Amino acid sequence: MQLKTFAISALAATLVAGCGANQTAVKSEASDKGATKSAPVKAKAKAKPAVIAGASGAMLASTCEGCHGTDGASTGPATPSIGGMSEDYLIEAMEEFRDGDTQSTIMGRIAKGYTDAEIVAMSEYYAGVDYVGVAQSADSSTVAKGEQLHNKYCDKCHHDGGSDASDDSGILAGQWAPYLQYTMEDFMNGDRDVGRKMKKKMDILLAKEGQSGLNAIISYYSSQR
Ligand code: HEC
Ligand code: HEC
Repeated sequence: MQLKTFAISALAATLVAGCGANQTAVKSEASDKGATKSAPVKAKAKAKPAVIAGASGAMLASTCEGCHGTDGASTGPATPSIGGMSEDYLIEAMEEFRDGDTQSTIMGRIAKGYTDAEIVAMSEYYAGVDYVGVAQSADSSTVAKGEQLHNKYCDKCHHDGGSDASDDSGILAGQWAPYLQYTMEDFMNGDRDVGRKMKKKMDILLAKEGQSGLNAIISYYSSQR
């Protein structure tokens, strides 16, 4: 976990450093906002043209490809696939990363480089492409048990076996098993905020089935494409 965090952080630092122009744009917009606040009645400030022309969602998304893959189909086991998730989910996830409300190894720093409008544009883009599940091997002996446990504890919010793209709870089917494992650890350690209702289900699952029950559910998700 430590090593993974370090390696990803180093990569992120390089990537973020490469985004100088973008960060400058964000900064100048932020100081414009400040100026408007301290002198709100000046009509002149309102008429001022936008400092940067908006980049398209596809252009913005090209900076995400290195980790999230082409059209958000992840090629790295610690990175989720994001193409085809709901726009609302994507916007919320980015805002939470940016504001430090969600635990992350690197997305917090990346998300800070974007304005609200840019986050909406890239989320629209990713919501418009098809979700591609990862081809990976799953522990076939526990998939059936995992499906049964998923239906009992998780399907109420993660519909259709965790594959419903319109869910505001993310897509679980076909995500990398390591990503799901790290995420569940973050929830259990309290590093990532898990809603009260999901927490309750997780607690009952862990009390009744133990860690092997959770592992079976993860096998089930990773057996789907
Ligand atoms: C250096 C690799 C890297 C880059 C570049 C990157 N991401 Fe991420 N992304 C990750 C990792 C790793 C996670 C898991 C959370 C974490 O640990 O930061 C993640 C998580 C996410 C999530 C949460 C998905 C979920 O299921 O909850 C979203 C949304 C996301 N990234 C969007 C983006 C967007 C949009 C961009 C481009 C602006 C981007 N990412 C660029 C590595 C990256
Ligand atoms: C009451 C509704 C609810 C139930 C029940 C529920 N979840 Fe969730 N789950 C959510 C919501 C909402 C999110 C998004 C939270 C966020 O991003 O902060 C989420 C997020 C997740 C994520 C992270 C997704 C990502 O892409 O990062 C995983 C993994 C997960 N849930 C697994 C489970 C498992 C396994 C169960 C059953 C034991 C379960 N959930 C039960 C509502 C629920």
